[in-house]
Amino acid sequence: MINIAIFASGTGTNFDAILENINAGKIDAKLVLLVCDKPNALVVDKAHKANIDTFAFNPKDYADKKAYDSAILKQCEQHHVDLIILAGYMRIVSSILLQAYPNRIINIHPSLLPAFKGKDAIKQAYDYGVKIMGVSIHYVNEDLDGGAIIAQQAFNNEGMSLDEAEQHIHNIEHQLYPKKIQKLIKEGI
Ligand code: GAR
Repeated sequence: MINIAIFASGTGTNFDAILENINAGKIDAKLVLLVCDKPNALVVDKAHKANIDTFAFNPKDYADKKAYDSAILKQCEQHHVDLIILAGYMRIVSSILLQAYPNRIINIHPSLLPAFKGKDAIKQAYDYGVKIMGVSIHYVNEDLDGGAIIAQQAFNNEGMSLDEAEQHIHNIEHQLYPKKIQKLIKEGI
């Protein structure tokens, strides 16, 4: 059984979906750690309620990114983490973590990469007027929402409001991410 850590910054609906799949025996892994850069985020409460160890930090308490990524790495090592899953973690991961976890850090992003990187990707795509929207899962590198693509799922958003498109994307994320995590584990990530 491999140990996974989830990194998140906000509401944590993907955290919920992954944890539900673990508890239902659909992902062969143990969720041993939540890392969050916003101590007041809802996802931190969710982890506490589920008795998941949590490292919630304020980046301002550290000299720089290398300093807090070193603190995160220490937590991951102490928890024997094998795979890091970014789920709404709105920070670029530095070489400190990338070198310790080569090809073992993955991310989900709510657009068809390489289009619409960064924050508010769904609104960016909607405002641009695209007719096909979607979700990407990819390995993480030092570029914002960069790295080799693992999976994508697209849909035709014509006739949808922004709210409907957002809801649709989140529904896809909550199905696709657990499925692909399990596939990577089965293939021996
Ligand atoms: C998700 O839609 C995820 O794809 C996105 O943040 C949201 C987090 O929602 N991630 C990014 O934009 C990464 N660049 P959640 O906290 O409810 O899981």
